[in-house]
Amino acid sequence: MTPTQQHDVLIIGSGAAGLTAALNLAGHSKVAVLSKADLTSASTFYAQGGVAAVLDQADSIDAHIYDTLKAGAGLCHVDAVRFTVENGPSSIQWLIDEGVNFTGETRPDGSIDYHLTQEGGHSQRRIIHAADATGHAISKTLIDCVKEHENIEIFPHKLAVDLITLNKLGLPGNRCLGAYVLDTKTGKIAIFKARFVILATGGASKVYLYTSNPDTSTGDGIAMAWRAGCRVANLEFNQFHPTCLYHPDAKSFLITEAIRGEGGILRLPNGEAFMSKFDPRAELAPRDIVARAIDHEMKRLGTDCVYLDITHKPSDFVIRHFPTVYEQCLELGINITTQAIPVVPAAHYTCGGVSVDLDGQTDIGNLYAVGETAFTGLHGANRMASNSLLECFVFARSASQKIIKHLHQDFPNPEIPLWDESQVTDSDEDVIISHNWDEVRRFMWDYVGIVRTNKRLLRAQHRIELLQKEISEFYQNYKISSDLIELRNLVLAADLIVQSALKRKESRGLHFSLDYPEAKSVIMNTVITPPNAPPFSARKPRKSDLVI
Ligand code: FAD
Ligand code: SIN
Repeated sequence: MTPTQQHDVLIIGSGAAGLTAALNLAGHSKVAVLSKADLTSASTFYAQGGVAAVLDQADSIDAHIYDTLKAGAGLCHVDAVRFTVENGPSSIQWLIDEGVNFTGETRPDGSIDYHLTQEGGHSQRRIIHAADATGHAISKTLIDCVKEHENIEIFPHKLAVDLITLNKLGLPGNRCLGAYVLDTKTGKIAIFKARFVILATGGASKVYLYTSNPDTSTGDGIAMAWRAGCRVANLEFNQFHPTCLYHPDAKSFLITEAIRGEGGILRLPNGEAFMSKFDPRAELAPRDIVARAIDHEMKRLGTDCVYLDITHKPSDFVIRHFPTVYEQCLELGINITTQAIPVVPAAHYTCGGVSVDLDGQTDIGNLYAVGETAFTGLHGANRMASNSLLECFVFARSASQKIIKHLHQDFPNPEIPLWDESQVTDSDEDVIISHNWDEVRRFMWDYVGIVRTNKRLLRAQHRIELLQKEISEFYQNYKISSDLIELRNLVLAADLIVQSALKRKESRGLHFSLDYPEAKSVIMNTVITPPNAPPFSARKPRKSDLVI
């Protein structure tokens, strides 16, 4: 890797959001796509259930909007919801045109009758999927397309450390110029200059000890944007997926919600079904309700897990619809056609993120954020299942269109200083980094989990302050490594989550506090502004800018 790279657009992330942006931009510009690990190391690759969109005659745009607003518990932005839902069918068609092989039956005329499944909060069948390995099918297809495109240069194992902005260089104006990037194989740091930068770095669920997410979800984009001066919003809303496999040998394996969509029943260890005690929609209630109900029952009974039972369905149906879950569980000695699956909730999705408008524009000029790293206003206080991949496609496409409109513009190209390592040495105390990784993830799970209290949040905040001091000292004195960079981002993400949670003096959606068990009548987003924010924002004001 040469010490300075120059592209029209730098895309940080190779998940659904990053790859979609790359393919939409590549006809017009030279694009670089970074991934901090392999290209498939992204939540996208592990997505099971599918993508929500209005694709059936019996469904309607209004019904999808209504369901999303209802799941979001009053905090969704209607403009973002309408924009996403209306652009759903064309986004699915774009994926089909790129070659994604969704599950369906070929009709005599050669067209395909796609199978649509159902998940929590959806009043209709509207989830298009590739069996129970939708993310695998999407990633594989989009990665193949990206690899073939002559205008796209791919940089795996390159970790963006920080954004470079006019403000950070002490120059007037409010624009992003690129990023410092660590080659995780060689330890060298390069400058990636670009006229436009897109953050597509995924979420921050790795901040919790138990998560369905891959190791890449360390909140890097949120942390980089914050340090560059972008506002973030609604970070207290961490979604816990109700059903991750509970097994000592299974690291973060998700049991798709589509199993409940196809009739799966949640049972206590004695076999009793319990969800209808908590919500008339029972197993198909939105995730916040199901996860809290499981948490409640586990604590009440002192059990380590509950069970998801699909054994009443014919075994060929189960195996055909859920081949990945079937195989994975069988390897661990659980035959899901005859045995109920032991499950527990785990951190799954970051509903808040970097504040953007409907084009993915952040507060900083020429800096965009798309996918899970962004806060568009779509999810409100609780994301509805399978709306997140949809959001990736819709907003990556709208951000690309906006960038294409501005590609002809000339921007001054100031000198960027090389990364300075003259004052640092090799660390001889890496144990501190691994210890701090474990510590932050454990106290976030214990103190900032499904059920919160002020006392626990303040306890977490105190620990975070200590960790931040230690990490900053480490960062200033030692050569950086990917573990250190990710830890620094993880702890900042934890800080922003706790700050947001402390501001919300009510219970709503995914944020439940024993100190404030009721929802308030005044409904607001939680927006936090970084202390070093440039004096003006590059995006238009939004309703979400009202601070709680
Ligand atoms: P990701 O897919 O997470 O990609 C992030 C990318 O950024 C990665 O390439 C990573 O390497 C890169 N990156 C991160 N930091 C840096 C850095 N500092 N430098 C360089 N690169 C970096 N949603 C649905 O809608 N339907 C589903 O069925 C569904 N199932 C899911 C199942 C599982 C197990 C999980 C974990 C999530 C699921 N979700 C689902 C959620 C959905 O998959 C994610 O929200 C979505 O894939 C996020 O896409 P993304 O492109 O924003 O981020
Ligand atoms: C799942 O398949 O249960 C995950 C769906 C989602 O996270 O949207």
